[in-house]
Amino acid sequence: MIIASNFKTNHTRSSTKDFVGAVNEYLKSNRSSEVYVFPTATSLDNFDLQDNLHLGAQNAYPTISGSFTGEIGTSQLDEFNIKTILIGHSERRHVLNESNESIVSKYKYYMELGYKIIYCIGEPLEVKNQGLEKTLEYVYSQLDGIDTTYDNLILAYEPVWAIGTGVTATNDDIINIHNAIKKDIDRPLLYGGSVKLSNVVEICSLENVDGALIGTASWNKDDFIQIIELTKDIK
Ligand code: 13P
Repeated sequence: MIIASNFKTNHTRSSTKDFVGAVNEYLKSNRSSEVYVFPTATSLDNFDLQDNLHLGAQNAYPTISGSFTGEIGTSQLDEFNIKTILIGHSERRHVLNESNESIVSKYKYYMELGYKIIYCIGEPLEVKNQGLEKTLEYVYSQLDGIDTTYDNLILAYEPVWAIGTGVTATNDDIINIHNAIKKDIDRPLLYGGSVKLSNVVEICSLENVDGALIGTASWNKDDFIQIIELTKDIK
């Protein structure tokens, strides 16, 4: 399993240190899945981590450095040896209006540098309401220009309507999309969208679900550790 926490705009430097420290301590004495934590850019740091705990950036610009006010590039990521990045998250697409074109160029840039990329796809409610065929069409359009044979790619299916809403996709919703994608793309595929302590085992046990990308329910370190614990034996 792959279990990932996306902090979004939550936690400070100090609480991130506390969170990462606690997760790392847990992993020292417990066998578990691969774990990823995506703190805010201001909370990235050099942590001495277990091999299966990875710190990633929620976003970065496709540049080493330069004049891109408000952005960070690889010179800032290198300072903390960050080699993992989230690309195409629904909030970047739909709240911050990042275009598919800029997402694709970001993907190409970080792929060429060998980063582990968690690439997010997922449809808004009005598309879901048009049925499975339209949903798949939409989700596949988000893969246009994306090299899905890239070894360091992890995909995350996060339906927009399920993110931060408390409304989790049904098992059928998840299975339908995951089965279709996995038929075409041989990469790990996570589910994200209102995953919580009470449903993480059921979701991660579904066929073709390789783990979870979690927002809200992962921000409490004890809950996140419990999620890691609960999912550690799921194949
Ligand atoms: P929630 O778990 O809060 O729905 O967020 C999911 C998500 O966007 C993870 O990237």
